[in-house]
Amino acid sequence: MRIGVLTSGGDCPGLNAVIRSVVHRAVADHDDTVVGIEDGFLGLVEGRSRPLGLDDVHGILTRGGTILGSARVARDRLRDGVARSDELAAKLGIDALIAIGGEGTVTAAQLFSEAGLPVVAVPKTIDNDIDATDVTFGHDTAVHIATEAIDRLKTTAESHQRVMVVELMGRHTGWITLNAGMAGGAHGILIPERPFDVEEVCQMVEERFSRGKKFAIVAVAEGAEPRPGTMRYENGSTDAYGHQLFGGIGTRLAGEIAQWIDKESKPVILGHVQRGGTPTAQDRVLATRFGWHAVEAVHQGAFGCMTALRRTDIRLVPISDAVAHLKTVPESRWMEAEAVL
Ligand code: F6P
Repeated sequence: MRIGVLTSGGDCPGLNAVIRSVVHRAVADHDDTVVGIEDGFLGLVEGRSRPLGLDDVHGILTRGGTILGSARVARDRLRDGVARSDELAAKLGIDALIAIGGEGTVTAAQLFSEAGLPVVAVPKTIDNDIDATDVTFGHDTAVHIATEAIDRLKTTAESHQRVMVVELMGRHTGWITLNAGMAGGAHGILIPERPFDVEEVCQMVEERFSRGKKFAIVAVAEGAEPRPGTMRYENGSTDAYGHQLFGGIGTRLAGEIAQWIDKESKPVILGHVQRGGTPTAQDRVLATRFGWHAVEAVHQGAFGCMTALRRTDIRLVPISDAVAHLKTVPESRWMEAEAVL
């Protein structure tokens, strides 16, 4: 078979591990040909690809980013591509496509699949917000990076008796902030799923200092918002691809805390550091397993499916199950975190 593989959407650690695994399983075990499509769906609609053999994936397991590149595609361009699915597949000479990406990619994969392109999706995202899989690769790495940042901020915050507000990624869900906040022992954890009261946050900080504590760390997800009426804060509009632009909650909140208490309060925006560099061992293993199962799915003809981690096993689930809604932090996980704040 000739299998096309692409990576789309925001990059994340572990993408190369999937590509490597796909090539090994397909080429070495099934005698397939693998075609790497460049820059995600943009390369698909523009017909840009290159052959991927075992030599091409040598040494990429530990590399962050994606050797195939990734890009955003405007919605109308994507719709046009979906309408030309057969023509695009013929041009690239592929019998099937493995699409590795986040929520947007998986949704696009579903559209191409419905249009008749044989697609298997592999979920990735540091945000861990894709439903139907217990976890996505990239998340563990991001949580490690964010936890290390919190650990480091603690020592400098304590030396200067400061409040540090660390803003972490997470557009619509607070998984990174919740997990890194718990692992790093943050004193406040603010996530999009639970609008916060700024007074409560400031009181918590004030109370810590009054107990003789020398610093406070507040972890806030980029998509977190204050409860209506508690703090003036506005997110921006949306970008050309329909993604929400945020208003800088970390900076805004640090300013609010500094006004409330007589202590310095500094924002730290961790940003894309959370997406860069080598994946953790756990992410490398999950990504490698997903790659293996994606190739098997192609050979079984399980198109329109996505690889998913269910407990310790990899299963194939309909893509439609994954895109029905976002996986948000449930109340039960919040209660466990809240108990140790
Ligand atoms: O969805 C993954 C993610 O890293 C989000 O957490 C973040 O908001 C977004 O991508 C940033 O994407 P970019 O800056 O690449 O547009």
